[in-house]
Amino acid sequence: MSRKDTVGEIMITQEQILARAKEIGNQIAKEYAGEGVILIGILRGAVLWMADLMKEIDLDVEIDFMACSSYGAATKTSGVVKINKDLDSDIEGKNVIIVEDIVDSGITLNYLKGYLENRSPKSIKICALLDKPEGRRADLVVDYVGFTVEDKFIVGYGLDFNQKYRQLPYISCLSE
Ligand code: IMP
Ligand code: MG
Repeated sequence: MSRKDTVGEIMITQEQILARAKEIGNQIAKEYAGEGVILIGILRGAVLWMADLMKEIDLDVEIDFMACSSYGAATKTSGVVKINKDLDSDIEGKNVIIVEDIVDSGITLNYLKGYLENRSPKSIKICALLDKPEGRRADLVVDYVGFTVEDKFIVGYGLDFNQKYRQLPYISCLSE
């Protein structure tokens, strides 16, 4: 089946995403001037966004990755988070920025933030390509948001449905 059969209209183009990565990268460089940051990408969805963002941060930048899953139905999170891959780096005393594809309920990141806070980083912030505020169930501040989207199931630019569509060079949603 071709991806054109199931994927709806383009909601956000690659050009818009690259422009936003530049804006946020510049903002991060200003806010952490004279210091370094470690970007922690949440596999697998954050890979494309993190690659764009890191090129725009003119500071000492380290990167690492974590993978986690939440139990439950395919399109809704259950609230229980399991760590499948932990960090290789020590984050004690470092400025951590967690890079995520999308924040929906906020449960995944709320858990991960607490988990990483226990390792005594100097600071910890969150940067998400997309924010779906209507889905929020946890009290979570997303410090850097690429774009705010409606409560639809989004695919593309790293985001999947059953592991498909991550490679799309734009943000779309599944057509009904
Ligand atoms: P949360 O814990 O509800 O905030 O869920 C966050 C995770 O669920 C994200 O990292 C995504 O992997 C996944 N997710 C939430 N909404 C979507 C969506 O619209 N498309 C694809 N994945 C999503
Ligand atoms: Mg994810």
